[in-house]
Formats: sequence, structure tokens, C-alpha cells
Amino acid sequence: MKLLELYSGKAKTVYKTDDPEKLIMEFRNSLTAFDGKKKSEAPKKGYYNAQIAAKLLTLLEDKGIKTHFNSMISDTEMVVDAVDIIKIEVIVRNIAAGSLVRKYPFKTGQKLDPPILVFDYKSDVHGDPMINDDIALALGLATGQELSEIREIALSINSILVDYLDKRNLLLPDFKLEFGRYKGKIILADEISCDTCRFWDKTTGESLDKDVFRFDKGDLVAAYREVARRIVPEIFK
Ligand code: TMP
Ligand code: ASP
Repeated sequence: MKLLELYSGKAKTVYKTDDPEKLIMEFRNSLTAFDGKKKSEAPKKGYYNAQIAAKLLTLLEDKGIKTHFNSMISDTEMVVDAVDIIKIEVIVRNIAAGSLVRKYPFKTGQKLDPPILVFDYKSDVHGDPMINDDIALALGLATGQELSEIREIALSINSILVDYLDKRNLLLPDFKLEFGRYKGKIILADEISCDTCRFWDKTTGESLDKDVFRFDKGDLVAAYREVARRIVPEIFK
């Protein structure tokens, strides 16, 4: 049973439930970029992201990755485990794009093999700065054991997703994950969607993700719908 709102982020709202171990995560149509400086609303965005996230989290569970996903209770709402979130954004990069190209001498589209994994401190007031293990430990964000476990799980998730998306003619240049603690284990939390991944059409290189909004590249809803068509074709029947 859905109870009081616990918190509302930039694109999702989380509610308490009558079970203290479960939360409801609602995907909204709002979206922001550049630390909330750019804001908009896009019809059905919440729906497409929720459906994509549910499918990808289920795929990962099927491959043995523990996630917070339980079930969908509406088109845009999922029941998730009430994890203690670790304030680290785990970014995995397979192809250079975005801030990596802005900050370092990489060329957009350059293949990164092996993949690059970085940690950002999840803190809007600090601008989500990149951190290393020493900073994460000193800030008490996670233990050394947790950091190495997170790194290992993130790389496994990357292999699974790259392979799955390749079959759907999508490249995965990079994406962001969040992890949480639940019943003594580290599990995958948050979402995997067009808001948190770069998806490029494998044939044309076209962006089919939030970059369409960040850099005014065209019709955001059409891009998200196209990703949904490839990942969750069953919702279009
Ligand atoms: P970046 O190139 O802007 O650093 O983004 C790397 C990846 O992380 C990209 O797939 C988008 C995702 N991301 C988020 O999920 N949340 C954020 O706040 C940012 C900046 C990026
Ligand atoms: N999610 C971040 C924000 O809203 C940044 C981004 O995704 O570009 O500001």
C-alpha cells in the first residue's frame, strides 16, 4: 500500500509503503540537466523510462545480479527494496562521450577497451565531483570491500548490457549506476534508462537518450520511444 512521499528527486518520486522494507519508485515526466539548471516536462517519458528500467533490471536479475527491483504496480511505478543508498554514482564508459571528452583528450566515439569505470560523489551541491577510492573512504561513503564489490558488479552489468543492446542495434557508450545496502548485501538500486545511459543507434550513431534534451538534438519523446520499441517491444502490441 502506497503511503507518504519519502522524497522527490528530479525525475522520480519515492513513497513509503506499509512494509518498511519496500518502497514505491514513481517515474515522472519531468527532466533536468546540468545540475537542474535546465528543466522540462516530456509526455510519456516516465512511462518509457519505467518500462525500460523494469526490463533491464529483470534481465540483470535473470543473469544473477541482485537488484532492488520487485515488480511494477502501474505503468510508471515499481516496488523496490528499501536500500540504504551509497552516495556514489558509478559510471562505466565503453566509448568516449560527454564529460570525458570535455575534460580529457579523448575524441567522441573513441572506443575504450577495457572500459573505464569512475566514481562520482553523488552530491548536487558539490556538482557530483569525480572521486577516487581514498576520497570515498575518507568521506565514509563505503568500505574498501564495498568499493571493490561495486566495481566488479558494475563491470559484469556492463558486459550483460552491451551484449543485450548490441542485439537491438544499440551502442552503450556509457551509463550511470547506483548501489545500496540491503540485508547486509550490496545490490543495484535506482534505474537504468534513457536518463542514465547514453544509447546510440549502431547504424547511424544517432543519440537516443537524454543527450537529445541536454544538447537540443531533436525530439526527446521520439528517441525514448524508439529505445522502448527495441528493449520492450511487447508494450507496443
Ligand atoms: P557525463 O558524460 O555527462 O559525465 O555522463 C556520463 C553518463 O552518466 C551518461 O550516460 C549519463 C549519466 N549521467 C547520469 O545518469 N546522471 C548525471 O547527473 C550525469 C551528469 C550523467
Ligand atoms: N541529472 C543531472 C541533472 O539534472 C545531470 C544530467 O543528467 O545531465 O542536473
